[in-house]
Amino acid sequence: MKAYYHARAREYDDWWLGRNLYADKDRPGWDEERAELERWIEDLPARRTLDVACGTGFMTRRLGGVVTGLDQSDAMLDVAREQVPDATFVQGDALELPFDDGAFERLFSSYFYCHLEEVDRVRFLSEARRVAPELVIVGSRLQPDEQAARWDERVLSDGTRWRVFKRVFDPEALAQELGGRVLHESHYFVMACSP
Ligand SMILES: C[S@@+](CC[C@H](N)C(=O)[O-])C[C@H]1O[C@@H](n2cnc3c(N)ncnc32)[C@H](O)[C@@H]1O
Repeated sequence: MKAYYHARAREYDDWWLGRNLYADKDRPGWDEERAELERWIEDLPARRTLDVACGTGFMTRRLGGVVTGLDQSDAMLDVAREQVPDATFVQGDALELPFDDGAFERLFSSYFYCHLEEVDRVRFLSEARRVAPELVIVGSRLQPDEQAARWDERVLSDGTRWRVFKRVFDPEALAQELGGRVLHESHYFVMACSP
């Protein structure tokens, strides 16, 4: 997962924006729902927030308050610094956060929790709760007939092939797993928080 996203940094936002490799993807209503999700993130009360696995900063820029983004990939962080000049960015491991207990008011994470297998998921949640009292998770909503947890094969524009673990979520089940509630759900997306 780490190596795949590092290699994908410069083309990562194409997925959000439906460009290039993703231009022919059949996702009716995707742009409208993505914009709606962005508005939900903008409307979260402003807090001292850590965005874990922030990637290119695509969603980081929607967060209000004093924002720090963390990612393991310097290639992702280079893009994030260009896109979100007013946030602070730190290279580090989401499973061993380089911050003091309670350093933030909220930990936000989009499209990262969904890539964690059980052992790492437990580590991540423990780290998240150590550094912030509030947790907000964004991911994909489970579609009818879709497998909720699986290994996907992904191809980059240079032709390289990668295997990535991915979960998609029933909104209520995600909220229950986090011990919290659903903040927003649409056909493609889910955002849940804890507590
Ligand atoms: C699917 S991207 C999500 C990026 C961004 N949050 C978004 O929603 O657009 C997953 C990100 O997780 C980062 N990542 C993977 N493993 C990590 C780890 N152990 N610690 C920190 N970041 C990690 C990758 O570099 C990548 O930027």
